[in-house]
Amino acid sequence: MAREMILVLDFGGQYNQLIARRVRENNVYCEVHTALSIEKIRALNPVGIILTGGPQSVYEKDSLLPPIEIFDMNIPVMGICYGAQAMAKILGGEVKPTRVSEYGKTEIETSGESKLFKGVEKKSVAWMSHTDRIFTAPDNFTVTAETKDCPIAAMENPAKNFYAVQFHPEVVHTVEGMKIFSNFVDICGCARDWKMSSFVVDTINNLKNKIGGGKVLCALSGGVDSSVAACLLSKAVGKNLTCVFVDHGLLRKNEAAEVEEVFGKFDLNFIKVDAGERFLSKLKGVVEPERKRKIIGEEFIRVFEEVSKKIGAVDYLVQGTIYPDVIESGLGKSAVIKSHHNVGGLPDFVDFKEIVEPLRLLFKDEVRQAGRELGLPENIVSRQPFPGPGLGIRIIGEVTAEKVKIVQDADAIYREEIAKAGIKNLSQYFAALTNMRSVGVMGDGRTYDFAIALRAVLTSDFMTAEAAQIPFEVLNVVANRIVNEVKGVNRVLYDCTSKPPATIEFE
Ligand code: XMP
Repeated sequence: MAREMILVLDFGGQYNQLIARRVRENNVYCEVHTALSIEKIRALNPVGIILTGGPQSVYEKDSLLPPIEIFDMNIPVMGICYGAQAMAKILGGEVKPTRVSEYGKTEIETSGESKLFKGVEKKSVAWMSHTDRIFTAPDNFTVTAETKDCPIAAMENPAKNFYAVQFHPEVVHTVEGMKIFSNFVDICGCARDWKMSSFVVDTINNLKNKIGGGKVLCALSGGVDSSVAACLLSKAVGKNLTCVFVDHGLLRKNEAAEVEEVFGKFDLNFIKVDAGERFLSKLKGVVEPERKRKIIGEEFIRVFEEVSKKIGAVDYLVQGTIYPDVIESGLGKSAVIKSHHNVGGLPDFVDFKEIVEPLRLLFKDEVRQAGRELGLPENIVSRQPFPGPGLGIRIIGEVTAEKVKIVQDADAIYREEIAKAGIKNLSQYFAALTNMRSVGVMGDGRTYDFAIALRAVLTSDFMTAEAAQIPFEVLNVVANRIVNEVKGVNRVLYDCTSKPPATIEFE
């Protein structure tokens, strides 16, 4: 892909992917990489480099640092938090632990004529999260921002276009963050001509070059990610693509029939595999969430391998993995939150030449944009996400056929009532089975049944989310209907927690 690109060198901070997003919001293509050699960096030919935050200390023995030669490439470099400290250390400054670690929203004052702070209010609020800081700036650097506890909150060498900020411009709490990214993009001399349509065209061309006349299997779930991935592949390789839809028995009520109905009409090879019993028997007795994910992830692959043997000579398996899946499954030195089955949940041995993930660098809303560019129908493009392991991770504890039925029925009622109430702004909402039994009274009798939890969240990137405020009248109707219509449930709870500290799914 010959176009201007800003390279993000990732040192493992939890929100580093937001940096890529902020760059793309300025219509500049951006890639995130971990631990690249200088040769690989040069080969990528970036117009600028951003060094991210990370959990390490630059003075630790095995701390990951960028190759020193990036500072001789004659391109702008911006360091953020750990990245700023790495720049200071490499160029001869001094970094040490602070006595007071700064965390959260902090007043910041910028000074001077910095190009990075062009148009930025002199006094504003920035998001800080650090225990080390730069004590001495390297030679030829000037200090351009300070906070109460951090005298070098930003520094720069404008002649070389090196910029360092101790705070995090990528998070929304840094009020002037977007302007700072926009200024850096200008400093890099970017034309700002990258659009989602360019991504679509570039990706199709790349897939054509890579796959040529090879045969490809695409794991299609009917969700937006795999549908967009399938569409890209179908444009790249035509009839050499076969889409496989595995009904693992952990889908929402009626979902298998709906997916078949939609994709059966598309001009592609479509195979549906009924594997419900097979998945249930593998999950028998398993309660631990990560085990469940791994089992489901492995079983998916085994089904695809079997289908691929029947078709013969399939080299590639395509998955609709997106960026949050990658990051939450642990990229570089970030913590593993959950092994999203299409990333960390894969078995060690996979009998395909390669797994192709064309959406690996995109966020959900960017995937939706790509879907619209590709002309996919709106009811697919705007579908709420549904996790690969399906209801398997919405049933806390052991998964049984009886519990699957309970959660399917409760979820169908919830979705029906949300639609009836005309609530359209929810990013994701579903019912989960808590695995908690409690005492109730129905008619004149005592019950000892399950509690269903309802969840609804608002989010744009699924990395953070807030609980939606569904009108109580609606929740009341849903709760009444669930306890009356779903056998085995006598209590309905609403989850008011945001992410963090909770996650969106229960497991
Ligand atoms: P969490 O629960 O991690 O969810 O806050 C964030 C988004 O990811 C989806 N999710 C998954 N998707 N495999 C998937 O394909 C998984 O194992 C998985 N776990 C969570 C979740 O539905 C939400 O949209």
